[in-house]
Amino acid sequence: MDALTMFPARASTNAGEVDLLYGFLLAVSIPMTLLIFFFVFFFAIKYRRRSPDERPKAIHGSIPLEIAWSVIPLFIMLIMVAWGTKLYFENYTPPRNTLDIYVIGKQWMWKVQYPDGQREINELHVPTGRPVKLTLASEDVIHSFYLPAFRLKHDVVPGSYQTYWFEATRPGRYHIFCAEYCGTNHSRMIGWVTVMEPNDYEAWLSGGTRGGSMVEQGRALFEQYGCVTCHVLDSQGRCPSLRNVYGNPVQLEDGRTVLADEAYIRESILNPNAKIVKGYKRDVMPVFMGQISEDGLLQLIVYIKSLSPQNTQVTPSGPSPAAVPTRAPAKQVQKQ
Ligand code: CUA
Repeated sequence: MDALTMFPARASTNAGEVDLLYGFLLAVSIPMTLLIFFFVFFFAIKYRRRSPDERPKAIHGSIPLEIAWSVIPLFIMLIMVAWGTKLYFENYTPPRNTLDIYVIGKQWMWKVQYPDGQREINELHVPTGRPVKLTLASEDVIHSFYLPAFRLKHDVVPGSYQTYWFEATRPGRYHIFCAEYCGTNHSRMIGWVTVMEPNDYEAWLSGGTRGGSMVEQGRALFEQYGCVTCHVLDSQGRCPSLRNVYGNPVQLEDGRTVLADEAYIRESILNPNAKIVKGYKRDVMPVFMGQISEDGLLQLIVYIKSLSPQNTQVTPSGPSPAAVPTRAPAKQVQKQ
């Protein structure tokens, strides 16, 4: 039955508005296409050459007509731009207090990790009525995490994090697709997102985990890789303390100020010399590029996030107005 309907199920708060915009695009483009084809044939017949010596009248154009057919479509298209931009920023700007879930794409599966430590492959479980933020990473090539029922799709690019968020509205099972050709088994890189009522979700979550929460796993890695020996939490040692770093501006040795988001932490682990914190030296920290898996990186990041309890939410990478409020204090830091 599902396959016969034109649109996938609508199962998120924003899906309706995406469909509305899509409807507007259709409502504009279908009549325009019909109109153009109608006049192509109509004029071809009406103004056909009737005899070999027939000469058409010279036409020198019409300024009002040309302005009209340029300006009216311009305004219609500006409506599309404004509407699409609004939706884009809404979908890529998570609200506060999201449920954060981490998704890693690799040839050819989706690995999902929950804050409580559960892991799944090609399955994603989310509750209704709660904003969920997905942080997407790739272990190998570019994939694209596509959730048609939520009208969301984003490329998953190796070496960076992508995020989007949604709030599910209807319990059910909906498709997950990889929407970027990524090799032989791209077409099998599919799965299911299961939307559950909050109570069912709590029951599902408590279904048992091995290996502890992501924070605990991250803390274990933090010790295993020796990070604790330099990043002493409550004093400034050879390396900066990581307490209250996440979500706050960081002043760098070269005078710049950056926001400590997921992407910054990731880069600082893999390539510590890329951004040196003011007052610290290069080449003190070993380079972890190629040493830590994407799963491990996310666990470390979740652990470092947990050291900044008041900043549970910032928007990593990507164009998002939500980053603006958290960046505002940066100016004060520079003045000091
Ligand atoms: Cu992964 Cu296509």
